[in-house]
Amino acid sequence: MGLVWREQLSVGNDAIDSDHKHLIEIINLAEQSLKAKNPSDLMFALDSLSNYSKEHFAREEKIASAVGYAHAQKLHLSHDALLTKLNQAIQELNEKWTDSAIENFAALLRDWLVNHVIKEDLLMKPALEKYPPGFTVKDESSTKNTPHQTPAEINSKNIGFAMSNLYIHWKKEDEIGIPIIDEQHRIIVGTINSLFFFIQMGRGLAALRPTLSALDQYTKIHFESEEGLLKQIGYPDIDAHIQLHRKLVKEMSNVVQESISQGDPTIVMTFLKGWWMGHINQEDREYAAYLASKS
Ligand SMILES: [Fe+2]
Ligand SMILES: [Fe+2]
Ligand SMILES: [Fe+2]
Repeated sequence: MGLVWREQLSVGNDAIDSDHKHLIEIINLAEQSLKAKNPSDLMFALDSLSNYSKEHFAREEKIASAVGYAHAQKLHLSHDALLTKLNQAIQELNEKWTDSAIENFAALLRDWLVNHVIKEDLLMKPALEKYPPGFTVKDESSTKNTPHQTPAEINSKNIGFAMSNLYIHWKKEDEIGIPIIDEQHRIIVGTINSLFFFIQMGRGLAALRPTLSALDQYTKIHFESEEGLLKQIGYPDIDAHIQLHRKLVKEMSNVVQESISQGDPTIVMTFLKGWWMGHINQEDREYAAYLASKS
């Protein structure tokens, strides 16, 4: 039996109640996927939960300050802690899929929503009830999902946009003139763009691990090819160049951790775009110029 929204859970504001109902729907969806042991559906539900919670918290904080709720400041800190807790639990479940971990996770989700999110919000009820139930704060342009959309609806709406948008546009000028290296650089950019595609589909967190593991493998292939080539041509700055490659590998694991713990796949996207496009157009271009000068 899934969670059911009851009148006692109403905080006296339609927008907040409606968000809470939607969060309950997502949690029920997550529980169903947990029971069916369907990891991809579960990751989709958890991704939606994490994204929707962020939107909901932002909306709720605006309404709380607008109605003069005395602890509006504290609400933000408490929301931050809730998001961290949720993302940590998702991360832990990702690491071990045992029956007891699944059982604990289902209990944690319910507790997370009912005991912390909604019960804490009920403290705002007296402040919210001084305003009509329809009270809301304008300018919610940053909120992408409306409370009544199902994950499937959110998904289908995003498809057209995702299909027509690339995060990195590979240009002829980005080529350094060595066909195999240019080809590999394009594949790396293509993989980063795939991650962006999943983010736009609302599946960024679920896609993070498989996409980055493909990128990681391919980066190794690319660095091995490139470093072999630098050796062959006797490139004088080879050591410094190899150091840059090693540094990326190290930095990547920190950025990925940060992205996962913050529940924000865009952190890793921004980093990847900056690093790769910078490296290709600076240091890789330098050895290409050296090679051209020798031939
Ligand atoms: Fe809430
Ligand atoms: Fe390169
Ligand atoms: Fe390089």
